[in-house]
Amino acid sequence: MKEYNIAVVGATGLVGREMLKILSERNFPIADLKVFASSRSEGKIIEFEDRKLTVEVVKEGCFEGIDIALFSAGSDISKEVAPLVKKAGGIVIDNSNAFRMDKNVPLIVPEVNGEALNDHQQIIANPNCSTIQMVMLLKPLADSYGLKRIVINTYQAVSGAGKKAVDELIEQTKAYLNKEEIKKENFNHQIAFNAIPQIDTFLDNDYTKEEMKMVNECKKIMADEDLAVTATCVRIPVIFGHGESLNIELNSTYNINDIKNIFANTKNVELIDNPAQEKYPLQIDTENNDNILVGRIRRDYSKENTINLWLTANNLRKGAALNAVQIAEYLAEHDML
Ligand SMILES: NC(=O)c1ccc[n+]([C@@H]2O[C@H](COP(=O)([O-])OP(=O)(O)OC[C@H]3O[C@@H](n4cnc5c(N)ncnc54)[C@H](OP(=O)(O)O)[C@@H]3O)[C@@H](O)[C@H]2O)c1
Repeated sequence: MKEYNIAVVGATGLVGREMLKILSERNFPIADLKVFASSRSEGKIIEFEDRKLTVEVVKEGCFEGIDIALFSAGSDISKEVAPLVKKAGGIVIDNSNAFRMDKNVPLIVPEVNGEALNDHQQIIANPNCSTIQMVMLLKPLADSYGLKRIVINTYQAVSGAGKKAVDELIEQTKAYLNKEEIKKENFNHQIAFNAIPQIDTFLDNDYTKEEMKMVNECKKIMADEDLAVTATCVRIPVIFGHGESLNIELNSTYNINDIKNIFANTKNVELIDNPAQEKYPLQIDTENNDNILVGRIRRDYSKENTINLWLTANNLRKGAALNAVQIAEYLAEHDML
């Protein structure tokens, strides 16, 4: 079997560590593996199976011979470093929002639009975590009924904002319970025992960047510029797993049981929908589950051809690291490396 030379940039972060774990779990065929982070981590050792990897900082020439570089070090680093990988002949799979809306960069969820990888020009973008889990459910609905309008409300975990944000929730929770001063560094407002209706910064239209990412990325992945999409994104004091409430207007009539059956038969989607037994997807169920969990599927009686549903998924795995590794697998399986 062919083996590939892999680089992970941002290897010490939440997503980077998860990428290494997933490469190992899924036995991705690796020849050489290089790990990069900031100068704060230079020289640290990361264990990967029986290898001991030394964390490096990015330098001119460091990507020579690399087939795939998985990036999760933020958009500034992606913009700066991606050209070095390209120049060395490798392919970048980028988790940041640096290139997602670039028309020369495919924005990929393999189960939804893997075929768009045919047009890649060495940079491939991984969508936003909340977008990935949503389009996994929109795709089978689009195929069966067509989509008209999506109203999104998210309930997003703090791990979506990186490891410092997770630490802040834990520290604030301890401080609150011990009646000590609450310190805020990563979030503008207290996140412990609170919900913050702001993720990322505000734009001129009074939506946040996260909300507009969901709108624009959804249209690009679904290849449907006419799809009406609107979003409100909220950070909640949960460590792992994003939840979303979706109101979806279809292009045709439907039978609610058919929709449940469609999800029950969609790969990497799990239907958990039993109101009588109070069973529905929870954020805590996503910790050791790579599927998109969907439930609370019901008719919207206020609007024709419209449904409501609730979904949860692991933001670090399918929402980031797993999707990136699946893109690499797709490239390898289709002899595109
Ligand atoms: N968390 C999620 O759910 C999620 C989902 C989708 C996409 N993403 C995206 O993935 C990226 C990383 O997120 P994260 O949650 O993993 O953040 P994180 O936990 O804060 O990790 C950031 C990583 O970037 C590294 N880094 C910082 N400056 C660097 C530099 N100058 N050169 C090389 N590496 C550098 C850090 O290294 P040090 O340890 O040395 O500081 C660390 O490895 C972001 O673009 C984020 O938007 C995150």
